[in-house]
Amino acid sequence: MKILATGLTGLVGSRLVELLQNHQFENISTSTGVDITNTDQVFNAISSSSAEIVLHLAAKTNVDSCEEDKKEDLKILGQEDSIRREQEWSQKKTAWAVNTFGTQNIVRACEKTKKKFFFVSTDFVFDGDAPPQNGYTEDIIPCAINWYGQTKLEAENITQKATIPWTIIRIGFPYCARGKKSDLLRTFLTRLTQKQPIAAVIDQIITPTFIDDIALAINTLITHNATGIYHVVGSQSLTPFDVAQTVAKKFNLDSSGISKITRNEFYKNKAPRPFQLKVNNDKISQLDISMKTFEQGVEEIKRQLEN
Ligand SMILES: NC(=O)c1ccc[n+]([C@@H]2O[C@H](COP(=O)([O-])OP(=O)(O)OC[C@H]3O[C@@H](n4cnc5c(N)ncnc54)[C@H](OP(=O)(O)O)[C@@H]3O)[C@@H](O)[C@H]2O)c1
Repeated sequence: MKILATGLTGLVGSRLVELLQNHQFENISTSTGVDITNTDQVFNAISSSSAEIVLHLAAKTNVDSCEEDKKEDLKILGQEDSIRREQEWSQKKTAWAVNTFGTQNIVRACEKTKKKFFFVSTDFVFDGDAPPQNGYTEDIIPCAINWYGQTKLEAENITQKATIPWTIIRIGFPYCARGKKSDLLRTFLTRLTQKQPIAAVIDQIITPTFIDDIALAINTLITHNATGIYHVVGSQSLTPFDVAQTVAKKFNLDSSGISKITRNEFYKNKAPRPFQLKVNNDKISQLDISMKTFEQGVEEIKRQLEN
């Protein structure tokens, strides 16, 4: 299948391209002359492609840097002149510009060209205050507590109002064996290997997701023409401290340098975080998509690194 996609140079997208060789990917990125905050560039790229599907991964993903954009974004959002607003977003590439306005540009172009839209979103759309015992399911109404989450949630809202078939794929804490951008697993692995100390948070719950599983899940969702919201997350929720301990154990590394830290200390002066992100993946398992536990993911990464 031919798939037009954004964000293929990123952490998740680059692994998708490696694994899903059954598809032919066309890349929309700044390196191919398309900035998603530029409405005309997006429309030209999408309308000139024969792909029936657009997979949208591109985003501004640094949570703390997004938070710094909030003031500027609110100022721009307060302007009445919509043309001026769009011009400013296109120039400033703030969190709202890339994550919300960029997504809107892609959705509008998909509507005009009748292409299906697959949007990769985040578990940061939830507040992480008190998830149900079985974790956040797709039918729970999200409520983001930081600017990154809010810009992605607004992009989800735009997606859900689209007049073309749409799919929202929420992922959380993606990790893989290799890649330009690091992730939590590789950050811990590097520090453990180099015998550097790690301060790992003990009172936060995350649901890490093996990127290879995300790739296979996206493949299934696309080939099954699945629409709606899907939580494409790992099958185990744990603390960052447990993440560090698991990495040390599976790689037979000394764990004595791993110390405990509270979330209040670790995230002091940083953007607010949703702290209890237990996310439920029952819905995708009904499509026979199997998502690894973190322990299984680390074992697979060890195997990949040894080969
Ligand atoms: N990483 C996480 O922890 C995490 C967690 C949950 C959900 N997600 C979601 O998963 C998706 C992929 O995340 P990721 O971590 O793989 O991203 P990433 O590594 O930060 O890469 C960001 C991608 O977005 C593209 N991009 C940024 N601004 C752009 C613009 N103005 N125009 C065109 N392309 C632009 C970049 O392309 P260029 O090469 O052109 O700059 C790059 O390919 C995102 O939607 C993110 O919200 C990520």
